[in-house]
Order: sequence, then C-alpha cells, then structure tokens
Amino acid sequence: MAESRPVRLGVNIDHVATIRNARGGRHPDPLRAAHAAILAGADSITIHLREDRRHIRDDDLHRIVAEIEAPLNLELAATEEMLGIALKAKPHAACIVPEKRTERTTEGGLEVAGAKTLLKPMIAKLSDAGVRVSLFIEPNPVQIEAAAELKAPVIEIHTGAWCEAAMNGDHGGANKLFEHIRAAATQALGLGLEVHAGHGLDYQTAERISALPEIMELNIGHFIVGEALFEGLDIVIGELRIAMQRGRAAAKSRP
Ligand code: PXP
Repeated sequence: MAESRPVRLGVNIDHVATIRNARGGRHPDPLRAAHAAILAGADSITIHLREDRRHIRDDDLHRIVAEIEAPLNLELAATEEMLGIALKAKPHAACIVPEKRTERTTEGGLEVAGAKTLLKPMIAKLSDAGVRVSLFIEPNPVQIEAAAELKAPVIEIHTGAWCEAAMNGDHGGANKLFEHIRAAATQALGLGLEVHAGHGLDYQTAERISALPEIMELNIGHFIVGEALFEGLDIVIGELRIAMQRGRAAAKSRP
C-alpha cells in the first residue's frame, strides 16, 4: 500500500503560450503565469517544448529556468535536439512524451517496450545530470514493465482516454478505463516506480484519481488555462487543490 501523502499539482502553462503566439507578441507571458500558478499553490510548473515550438519556445524555457524557484517539469520528445536542450537547462524533471507534428495534443503514450534502445541512453544521460526522468505511458502492463526495466524512476499515466469517456458521459467505458489506470498504478508502484498522471483532467477526474493512493502527482494544463478565463488562475488552482484533497481523504477513510 502506498503512503497517503497529498497529491502534488503540476500546472502546465503551455496554453498561455498558445494564446500569446496567436498574436505573435509577448502577452500573455508564460513566465508570469508560472509565477501566478506558484503563488496560487502549484507545486511545480510543467512546460512542453515541442519540436515545432507551437506554444512554449526556447526563450520561455530559459526565462522560466532562470526565474522560478518551484520545480520545473520539462516535457520533451525522445530526440537528440531535445536531449541536448534538457541537459543544458537541467530542469528538476523531464517527462519523455511521444510527439507527432499533426496532433493537437499528446494523443497517446510513449511506446517504451519497442524503443528501449533509443530510450535507455537518454534516460541514463538525464539521470546522470540530476534530472528526474518520467515516461508518459498508457496504463498498459507491457509499457510499465519496460519503464521499470529501463530504470526510469517515474511514470506518468496518460489519463486522456478515461477523461474523454467521463466527459462524454460514457460511464461504463470510463469505469473500465479507470480500472486500467488503477491496475497500472498498483503494478508500477510494485515495481518501484513513482506514479504520476495527466491529460484531460478537470475537477471531477482530478478528485477521483486522487483517491488512488499510488498517485503522487497530477499534471494539468488545458482545463486550468481554459477555466481561468472565467474564474481566474488562482481560484481554479485553489479549487483543484480542494478537489484533490477531497479525493485523497476519501481514499484514507476507506476501510
Ligand atoms: N502530461 C503530459 C505528459 C502531457 O503531454 C500533457 C499535455 O501537454 C499533460 C499532462 C496535460 O494535459 P492537459 O493539458 O490535457 O491537462
């Protein structure tokens, strides 16, 4: 059984950059969003430097590394270019994700089992540089085994399919997918991996997944930035934290 520590919240600010880039200027500034998110209670900041730089840019990464004190989690594709950037920037954590130019967001998990030769040296180099590596994967036992074999200290479970089913009111489908996540989290913890989760999470799904004691961290972006338009970043982050605490408390009170 995992210890029931509070779930950490990583706030992904990519879409602040998406809005900025729509006009090509400097506003709204992702660095300002990072400061505001930390002030509102984010435990860490997540950014994804995509190969096409569609939202976060190199300059954002450098300014955020230089100016924020909270841990930075850098999402990156498994390429030489990104490895070089991460080794120079030395963020607290690096989450290796699959990347396709045509996708709107990270659509699926990383194929770890089929890409061990590519991933192994990348994980080793990042770890040697003091960067905590996580692998963004589907809740799939084969991928989890492979992650443990490659000695990645952390996995982040892709919650996108579950969140989509839940959002569409497909309760049967959502429950089935949630059970896959639960099994994956148990398996990963049993193999000594730290377990994070992310993609598509909102108040309801963040609360529900926080009830899994294996989950140590959630990374949430799109919902926070979208909802902040109506409520403000600080209110949304505060509400999310409350929802996550409620979920965790429900887990603790179970017999
Ligand atoms: N975790 C990872 C690895 C991601 O790639 C993303 C999307 O950038 C997220 C979490 C956050 O997903 P969302 O923006 O849907 O909350």
